[in-house]
This record gives sequence, C-alpha cells and structure tokens, in this order.
Amino acid sequence: MSGAAAAATAVGAATATPALAATTGTSPGIGHFSSYPFSLGVASGDPLPDSVILWTRIAPEPLVIGSGMPDRPVPVHWQVADDEAFTEIVREGEIFARPENNHAVHVDVRGLRPDRWYFYRFRCGSELSPVGRTRTLPAPGASVASFTVTHLSCQNWAVGYFTALRYMAEDSIDLALHLGDYIYEGAISGPVRDGADVPDAIRAACHSVDEYRLRYSLYKTDPDLQAAHAAYPWAIVWDDHEVSNDYAGGVDHGPAQLARRTAGYKAWWENTPTRVDPPVGADERIYRRFAVGSLVQFDLLDSREYRIGDNDPLVSKLGDEQEAWLIDGINAYDTTWNVAAVGQQLGGVNANSPTRNRIYKAYYDRSVAPVILAGDLHWTIASDALLAIPDASSPIVGEQFIVTSITSTGDGPGSQATKDGWMKFPWVKYVDGYRGYIRSTFTPSGVYSTQRDVRFVTRPNAPVWDAQNFFIDPKKPGIQLA
Ligand SMILES: [Fe+2]
Repeated sequence: MSGAAAAATAVGAATATPALAATTGTSPGIGHFSSYPFSLGVASGDPLPDSVILWTRIAPEPLVIGSGMPDRPVPVHWQVADDEAFTEIVREGEIFARPENNHAVHVDVRGLRPDRWYFYRFRCGSELSPVGRTRTLPAPGASVASFTVTHLSCQNWAVGYFTALRYMAEDSIDLALHLGDYIYEGAISGPVRDGADVPDAIRAACHSVDEYRLRYSLYKTDPDLQAAHAAYPWAIVWDDHEVSNDYAGGVDHGPAQLARRTAGYKAWWENTPTRVDPPVGADERIYRRFAVGSLVQFDLLDSREYRIGDNDPLVSKLGDEQEAWLIDGINAYDTTWNVAAVGQQLGGVNANSPTRNRIYKAYYDRSVAPVILAGDLHWTIASDALLAIPDASSPIVGEQFIVTSITSTGDGPGSQATKDGWMKFPWVKYVDGYRGYIRSTFTPSGVYSTQRDVRFVTRPNAPVWDAQNFFIDPKKPGIQLA
C-alpha cells in the first residue's frame, strides 16, 4: 500500500484476492442483466501523481434511451491492482451509478503511487468489466527521462472506421490528448460503415440530452475507441461538435442554443473520464493544467465556451478569465517544456488574432517556447509559431502541431492544391491530409514527434505508416523535419 491518504471508499493493499466481492445486497434486482452491462468499455483520465479518474457507464442496452437500466441508483464495485490478474489489489471501493447521470460513474482514486502503471476493472451485479490499464504522473518536480503523448481529434463515427485509434491503442503511449470533436452532433443519413444498423432515434441531429447520450453510446460501442481508452489515460478537451457546428459560447444565441449546450455538456461530462465537476446548466469549466514532473506542463484550453464572435478569429477565443489564467501559468511555469492543447488554434495558420498576439507575447516575454497542439482542421499542419505572423522574419516563439482527424472528411490524402496553399507559407514545415494521429515523446533533450497515417477509413483494417518525424531542440525553437 502506498501509505498516502486513501479515499474514503478505499481499502488497504493486503486484499490479495482475484475475485471481486459478492453483491452487497443494496441493489435488489441487479445481479443479472439481459445483455452485457459494460457494453461501452472502461476508460481512465486526467492522472495526477497520486490519482486518476476511472470511468464506465452501465448500459446493457446502449442504443435505447435509458440504456436498459432501472430508474434508480445501482452500486458498482471498482478495483485498482498492480497486476493484470488482480492478485495485488491496491485500492477498491463502491460507487453508485445514478440514473440522473445515465448510470455513468467517475471514480477519483486517491492514494496511488507516482509514476506507476496500474490495472482497473468494475463489477456490477454479477458482471465484470473489461480490464483497463492506466498510470499516474511522476511526482511534482521529479526529473523524468521521457513522457509520450498522442494527440488526436475529430472522430466522426459515420464517416468511417476508427482504425487509427486501434493503432493508437497498440502504440507505446503514456497519455492521450483528445483535442475535440469526440462526437459529431449532426444528423446521420444514408448508409454508414458498410451499412451498419443505426436506429432512427440515433440518426436525428442531437438537441436533447437523450439524443446526445445516444450519440455517445453509438460512438462508445466502437471496439477501437474502447481499446484506446483501455490502454492508457486520456485528457480531453472539446471543440464545437460536442454541441453544434461553429458555436461561440460567449455570444447570446437564445434559449434553444443554450438548452442544446446544456444537453451537450451534460452528455460530454457523463461520457468522458475527466476531472471536472458536472456542468451547471450551460456552464462547465474544462480548462485545466497538470505537470509531468519537471519535464512538461500541459495547459488544456477551451476555445468554444467563452468565445466571442461566430467563427471570427479576430475576437476573443478564450474569454478574459481563461486568458488571464493561461498567462498566469505561463509566468509561473518551471518545466522544461510547456504545451498548450486547444480544440481550435488561437489564430490562423497564416493569420494573427488579438488572442493569439497577447498569448504569444506572454510566451515570448517570459522566454517560454510553447509546443501548441490543436485540432479542428482535419489536416496535419506542423509549423513554427511566429510572434507576428504573417511577418516571416518575426521571432519564432515555439511550434504548432495541428493534428489531422481520426476519420473526419474521409480517406486521405486530401487535395494537393489545398496542401500547396499551406506549404507556400515559409513557417509551415509539413502538411498531411491523411487520417491519423501524432505521437510525441518529450525528453529533457528534445521532443520527438511522429505523424502516423492510415491509408483509408471508409473500409476497415487500413495499414498504418510513419509519414513524418519531427524534432524540437529545447535551445532553438522551431520544428525540424527528422
Ligand atoms: Fe472536426
């Protein structure tokens, strides 16, 4: 046992039993399900040095409203172990899956040891969940030899197969950073995924909380998405499609849009392993930060909820409060690397914006060279981050990786004319229109990144290849092709 403060529900490490405890008797009628209740898999997220959030949702019938569950709380037992066979259990406890949360659970496991991998699982009634693998972060200030993240975005289930997520699950990664468009809220029409049977209730564009919940259920039944969640922890921010296309939360669009946002945020919170409180109406603070020892700090940003201006990069993208919070963090940070992860880039690939200018100046004044990760465009665009874009002679502040999509816009390689259009800017080093993800290993002596592409998404089982390697020197900002 770690000896650190244990959560109230935890027990000691001496419980060397591979079997979960018998049903407590607090849930009459739960014990046997008509179908497997862990149909949506398991997930973990937002690790800290002593803690990680464990997630599951009890859903024997995931594609119907209510997921086939009774309208009452149901106890769920959880375990964390050192080994995959669960012979060395280090924490366990019980939590209620509640109907008001669509029977989702978020367990904030405390008292874990820093910089360690663990295994976890759940039991509900007589059913055991799949086993997930997760990890804690290194202790604050600890020297860390390397830490590998994957960045990904834009997984449109109806457009194709999540093959890139399967390769991501098999990759050697410490943490996934999902940069938004976890779902797409629009109507699903016509045949999708080789004629997959999608009930009409799920095809309608999402407006109510039940519609968003069903959309998450559809996505989370995907075996590749489940595998990637079960392989390591994720840290997730949203972009626009978790609510509606191109919305700007800082602008009053009336009660119908506010109700839609309320529903979308609620379903997002229920279905992601995120260390934030549940939303209150249409308000949910998801911007947050964490550090990996003395190696790297991650600032996770929200470019939608506080944004002023409909898709207008010339007005505030983050809102005053979040922007001040980010700049405070830039001024205080003391890690080798600093990462800002955001759904949509703060300016444009070839355009300034007031938000971008203020934040880049803060980085520059503090001599912090950020690695900026963004999604949204469905292209990978790796570029130097200039202080005063589009002045090609202005100082390089840091680097920006816009990561391509998992499926959105369909099979690569995209239009050569579009690619050429980006490549004509001297600060743009690489453009890629295939689907895939980027893996980045942070070390004290450099960041080593790789763009991984899948050949197609409209059919299953596409091959993957390493399309491009990148290197960032800590003493010389800018992306080097490697
Ligand atoms: Fe997208």
